[in-house]
Amino acid sequence: MIEYQNILDSINQSVIKEQNKGTIASYIPELTNVDINDFGIHLQLVSGEQFSVGNSHQPFSIQSISKVLSLALAMSQVGTAIWERLDVEPSGNPFNHLSLLELEEGIPRNPFINSGAIVIADILVSNLKNPKADFLNYVRDITGDNSIDYNYKVAQSEKETGFNNYAAANLLKSFNNLHNDVEDVLDFYFHQCALEMTCQQLSKAFFLFANKGNCLANKARLTKSQAKRINAIMLTCGFYDEAGEFAFEVGLPGKSGVGGGIVALLPNQFVISVWSPGLNERGNSKLGMQALEQFTTLANQSIF
Ligand code: DON
Repeated sequence: MIEYQNILDSINQSVIKEQNKGTIASYIPELTNVDINDFGIHLQLVSGEQFSVGNSHQPFSIQSISKVLSLALAMSQVGTAIWERLDVEPSGNPFNHLSLLELEEGIPRNPFINSGAIVIADILVSNLKNPKADFLNYVRDITGDNSIDYNYKVAQSEKETGFNNYAAANLLKSFNNLHNDVEDVLDFYFHQCALEMTCQQLSKAFFLFANKGNCLANKARLTKSQAKRINAIMLTCGFYDEAGEFAFEVGLPGKSGVGGGIVALLPNQFVISVWSPGLNERGNSKLGMQALEQFTTLANQSIF
């Protein structure tokens, strides 16, 4: 019997003492409206039990974590055809770099770097009737929580400063790998990234990846094989140029966002979500990574 609550309490104790909590992302100005001391963890076991510590019920901007949910919806809608438009290799580059995209003729390395997520957004804009409303309903549905919403100010803030993503979308368009208007695709993408969720909601949303494609309400949302593949991409690409370090320290598939959230999971066992808004140099939550390293070490639970 693993003493999960004791483990979360002791991680909280050790992490709140840290002097260097990292740096809050400011390239999307609206993201700076958070307190560097905010910290929360929520653990959802596949067996149903839950544990939490700190601000696990406070909503924050999930940013790139949303890329896993948009990929899941695109895979369930379109199937394997999406792999004609993007690859599944780690890029070894920061999330917003464009050099490989040009060298590799408009085929993004994977769906979690920005250019890859923009291709997925394009696929959803083509396939959904009301893209923003339908995506929000999908996330509410798999989580079983209708209170989840976009933060429209964050979406607008990114629209005003998202020059790099405009460059990515235009480059994709020049290689014929963007079928809809740049504005329409980025409007969807900026809203997708501006979803606000709590650690508890994130653990519930990601339950399907730990549960062979079946969501918390035990409804099949992905095939077992699709869930396995998404977990593989999280392990190899979920942390960009820090994917190796996350596997080395934590040993779980996971995904980060510049809002300071990280979700990680052990198939058939649990989903764990952490939030601490200070980021390290690679754009991943500094204390979030430390907390997860301690968690998998103390609980002796990882895929390795
Ligand atoms: O496109 C962007 O730059 C942001 N909306 C998301 C980036 C992000 O979260 C990177 N992850 N650590």
